[in-house]
Amino acid sequence: MKVDVIIGLQWGDEGKGKIVDVLTPKYKVVARFQGGPNAGHTLEFDGKKFVLHTVPSGIFRENSVNIIGNGVVVDPVILMDEIRKINAAGVPTGGKILLSKKAHLILPTHRLLDAAQEAAKGGAKIGSTLKGIGPAYTDKVSRSGLRAGDVLHPDFGKKYAALKQKHLALLAQLGYPCSGVDEQEKEWLRSVEHLRTEFAIIDSEYEVNELLKQGDILAEGAQGSMLDVDFGSYPFVTSSSTVCAGACTGLGVAPGKIGEVIGIFKAYCTRVGSGPFPTELHDDVGEQMRRQGSEFGATTGRARRCGWLDLVALRYSIMVSGATQLFMMKADVMDNFDTVKVAVAYSLNGGVTDRYPYEVDAPVEPIYREFRGWKKPISSCRTQQDLPQELLDYVTFIEQQTGVPVKFISVGPDRSETVLR
Ligand code: GDP
Ligand code: IMO
Ligand code: MG
Repeated sequence: MKVDVIIGLQWGDEGKGKIVDVLTPKYKVVARFQGGPNAGHTLEFDGKKFVLHTVPSGIFRENSVNIIGNGVVVDPVILMDEIRKINAAGVPTGGKILLSKKAHLILPTHRLLDAAQEAAKGGAKIGSTLKGIGPAYTDKVSRSGLRAGDVLHPDFGKKYAALKQKHLALLAQLGYPCSGVDEQEKEWLRSVEHLRTEFAIIDSEYEVNELLKQGDILAEGAQGSMLDVDFGSYPFVTSSSTVCAGACTGLGVAPGKIGEVIGIFKAYCTRVGSGPFPTELHDDVGEQMRRQGSEFGATTGRARRCGWLDLVALRYSIMVSGATQLFMMKADVMDNFDTVKVAVAYSLNGGVTDRYPYEVDAPVEPIYREFRGWKKPISSCRTQQDLPQELLDYVTFIEQQTGVPVKFISVGPDRSETVLR
């Protein structure tokens, strides 16, 4: 049996939550392997809409097992709040969520450090979601973090107090005010107590490999490949491995156990926060994408930057993760466009390149290929035959340019609004 991996190929928010939800009838087990509550994964079905930040997107399917893997960073307050909301919607979660002992915890002071470090960067800020992601992964790598498994040990209070003191000293150095930290700490410790008493905190790498003997597992990526800490537009990235390889380290599965690598991309591009975005549009067309696509962050509510599909970046992401199939999302957002453009290469310093540049300030100019718009609503399409020829021409071009089949076209936010090819 295999672990099939879903990853975002752009700058996040490609529609991973919807796809996990659509695919879960095929999988009993869904596992998050990296990131934390910086993620916002939206699911829509039966006229209802849910946004998940830490809980895997398989949770709404009966009898599913949802694993929060060792590669994830967890804020207990956000996790417990999310579970309360899911339960309030009439969906039971008891026994359906398993948390890795080795997942690192986000402390209230991690969030303050995130804010302090962003403030210190001034105009060069990353545009972090301020959920404490960077500082929590920093503690993990510098070997001073707190892990979910620690809450089961009697010396947890001591370990917590030591890490908090270290953070307070750092905050003092940065001259950042720590008002409200005592209140936040009370709520955090209450949530930790819920975790400790009500939650299955497990050796997830053993569990994942046992479950893998019984059936395929779906690994749910967060963020996108262009936000990867190694391959993204550093330093405007997140702090985890968002590419397929992250599923191996973030769950404890061997590379040979990886099956399909499903790369998700929007029919155009978006990015939240700072950093390079070669095909970004600052005109009415970009505004139309934002409006039609409701391009506002699921976690922070920030307006997403919008632009044309960038095949230079897409080919790069596909290469790094070895995507075996592509899913194209949100084509319906461009239903009214006269023309649809796609970047095939960049002109740079008088030459042409098909490589994504190392320098974040490289003065690249996208070279576009133009397509005729389909100019009709596609959200009611359910088969390939229903789709307009202009859209199919666009999809065929993407397949030729990437060498990977587009197996699935999403034509609306709802679970049912999908075309399988
Ligand atoms: P994720 O982080 O990758 O799970 O994506 P988000 O949930 O942050 O953002 C994707 C947004 O697009 C959500 O509001 C989805 O409901 C919505 N969405 C997903 N697929 C489609 C689609 O095919 N068409 C439209 N119009 N919206 C979609
Ligand atoms: P999902 O899983 C889009 C962006 C932030 C910022 C940068 C670093 O919903 O696709 P961080 O909080 O990690 O320190 O922020 O990464 N970012 C996302 N953008 N979707 C996400 O997740 C993101 N998670 C982080 O906007 O630019
Ligand atoms: Mg999102």
